[in-house]
Amino acid sequence: MSRFIIEGGGKMEGEITVQGSKNAVLPILAATVLSDGKNVIYNCPKISDVDMTVEVLKNLGCRVDTEKDCIEVDASHLSGHTIPDELMRQMRSSIIFLGAIIARCGRAEISMPGGCEIGIRPIDLHLSALKKLGVSITESHGFIHCVREKVQPASIHLDFPSVGATENIMLTACMTEGVTTIENAAREPEIVDLERFLNRMGAKIKGAGSDLITIEGVHKLYGAAHTIIADRIVSATYLACAVVSGGTVALKGAESAHMGAMLSVLKNMGAEIYEDKQKIVVVSPKKLKSIGTIKTMPYPGFPTDIQSPFMALSTQCEGSSVFVENIFENRFRHIEELVRMGADIKADGRVAVVIGKSRLTGAKVTAPDLRGGAALIVAALAADGTTEIENIKYIDRGYEAVEEILSPCGVKIKRKE
Ligand code: UD1
Repeated sequence: MSRFIIEGGGKMEGEITVQGSKNAVLPILAATVLSDGKNVIYNCPKISDVDMTVEVLKNLGCRVDTEKDCIEVDASHLSGHTIPDELMRQMRSSIIFLGAIIARCGRAEISMPGGCEIGIRPIDLHLSALKKLGVSITESHGFIHCVREKVQPASIHLDFPSVGATENIMLTACMTEGVTTIENAAREPEIVDLERFLNRMGAKIKGAGSDLITIEGVHKLYGAAHTIIADRIVSATYLACAVVSGGTVALKGAESAHMGAMLSVLKNMGAEIYEDKQKIVVVSPKKLKSIGTIKTMPYPGFPTDIQSPFMALSTQCEGSSVFVENIFENRFRHIEELVRMGADIKADGRVAVVIGKSRLTGAKVTAPDLRGGAALIVAALAADGTTEIENIKYIDRGYEAVEEILSPCGVKIKRKE
């Protein structure tokens, strides 16, 4: 099992080029099955979630060629409409293929997505929206069977602005004759990126980025080329690494317009942030101020995905910080590991209180999930001595070769197989 060995205490200094967004590339790769032409996607991050998505595409009969950060997908000979259990189990977000496969094939079968490391993650909103679009859904033998009985547009109101449900509706409705609307749609920048790609393929979608998305169905979509946006969560993780180490770091390619809530927290801690077109520079303060209360919210609120790395950072703030996790019920599993390193954190249900500043010491810890793993890297940079992080397969799901990114900035980090 791979692990990271990190020596804490050094200042991080330098420039990092930010990878493409995980949460943008996954639905966009799923969208490539909508056309029978060739799609070229640039700026794809080299992470294991992308490798698994490519496996799903190949399993459906797509031809996929990868060169550096570019993935070419040719779905002209799509031969399947099923996502088998082993692929679904490896990556729960394969659920995003559902809408695309139904639109292209008129039917889809996926293994039931079970719970995952950060909570139960139901898909009721996805399924009820698809039913409104004329899809009949049955469940048996651990599979969800979807058949398009009628091709009908719908007016859909989401009870919660689910990212995945919004994307699945867009993927099905863009090839459904008539006008479909999504009220209370998720507003994440990744949804805007999906709209841009689908429109390049010939779809007629308006409103992504707002809470009302209007989709006028078309008969056919064509192959298109697209460049994935920068990963705002990875950007904020590296800013947290820089600030916890007391260093100065420039992030090339970062999109500050997508990072308002996270940058404002860093500024409140006392960090100086300089935003330029496609570049963010952070200069750490001598002392970090406590950040009051952070509540995770749908975009443009504070993202749940950065809650754990920022909690690790807050252990180095003077005074208490409170985190309220409103999106996922089981996203505090990093706390136990941070406490092993010397953090003073108490959690009850969805609320965690961090008392700083703690002296962290290097320890053997285990990444509990993707972002919880990133939090342990942040903590390791502030800790005295050596931290060994096990289970880094989770970190590799969303972060490109962390050791190759951080080492040139002076961080003593090694991967051990
Ligand atoms: C996406 C992101 C994930 C991020 C999350 C919230 C991808 C691949 N993943 O996940 O990194 O943390 O958005 O920003 O883009 N819910 C239901 N019923 C549903 C769907 C969702 O109750 O049918 C609930 C979930 O349990 C959760 C909340 O809604 O509590 C948010 O989920 P959602 O926005 O759908 O997240 P994902 O698309 O799974």
